[in-house]
Amino acid sequence: MAAVLKLDQFNLLADEECDARIISAKTLLGRRLAILGHHYQRDEVFKHADFSGDSLKLSQLAAKTDAEFIIFCGVHFMAEVADIVTGGQRSVILPDLAAGCSMADMANLAKVRKCWQELSQVLDPDEKITPVTYINSAADLKGFCGEHGGIVCTSSNARGILEWAFARREKVLFFPDQHLGRNTGHRMGIPLEQMVTWDFNLPMGGLTVEALRQARIILWKGFCSVHQMFHPQHIVKFRREVPEGKVISHPENAFEVCEKSDYVGSTEYILRTVRAAESGSHWLVGTELNLVNRLRDEMKRKGVTVQFMSPMVCMCSTMFRTDPQHLAWTLDNLVAGRVVNQIRVPEAIARPARLAIDRMLEVID
Ligand code: 13P
Ligand code: SF4
Repeated sequence: MAAVLKLDQFNLLADEECDARIISAKTLLGRRLAILGHHYQRDEVFKHADFSGDSLKLSQLAAKTDAEFIIFCGVHFMAEVADIVTGGQRSVILPDLAAGCSMADMANLAKVRKCWQELSQVLDPDEKITPVTYINSAADLKGFCGEHGGIVCTSSNARGILEWAFARREKVLFFPDQHLGRNTGHRMGIPLEQMVTWDFNLPMGGLTVEALRQARIILWKGFCSVHQMFHPQHIVKFRREVPEGKVISHPENAFEVCEKSDYVGSTEYILRTVRAAESGSHWLVGTELNLVNRLRDEMKRKGVTVQFMSPMVCMCSTMFRTDPQHLAWTLDNLVAGRVVNQIRVPEAIARPARLAIDRMLEVID
């Protein structure tokens, strides 16, 4: 087998040189390769994706592709899902292994097990609570859900998944994103007082026995560091300046932001909704900057104004890690017959995780 081409050499290449290498490698690999790109990827990488989407769409695309190599321009948990749904039959590659998700890192198996054990002092969790993990989580947490009658959800199917969960057990433990859980629960008519926040650094989540008995949803105290930059005041200011404008937000935003928004949904939903907007309309968008900048440029040509919700530059720094240099490096290695940065979930974890993901894919939202 050919020697691994060194990343250091690629890091010195200009973007244009990387572009040429990426295009040439894609031509050489042809249908053996599929590049999946999440909407938060930077332009220089996004333009090379064969398919783009939100987390649900990308996991469905990964499950369907017959390409031998899947390069996932996204973050670690997405590549894990692609490996799990393809049953380890494809080589799934993450161009930069440091492309993680800070929200996903806010829950881990030890802390979730501890939570489950503490909950068992109050009620029988395996009888009473469905564990639901947001897809933004490590594979072993999906495995935990698989083993405990639970399920995975994404930002585009959370409501259908919570309905599935409540049809089976009276309560839900939702991790790691408190906001997606709270926003979805509220839209289903669950009162805020019946959604309690589990502080994973405190014994018993910092909650009383009574609060846990009353709760319908126990929300893990995780959040997205990008979406926490958007505030209700940004919407108030926009409404003052553009009274006829529309506001659209991702459900990883805080409850107060989603409540003030006209529309709330996944990245794919945001794109679909704004793309269908009338010429002359004006939109304030509360999600990651790369998506919003691309949408702004696209919609400008159609006479629609798109504005980023925050005055700060808030990008997902881990999504940003995937650059043309890493992409060219992984591709040139593939052309040389070498798979680098492969994501492989051990089968003992993948099996229960697949169960939880398959349950999600079977639920029609
Ligand atoms: P979606 O693209 O599924 O809406 O999720 C956004 C996100 O945060 C990905 O990490
Ligand atoms: Fe994670 Fe937030 Fe980045 Fe999405 S935007 S990958 S939730 S840190």
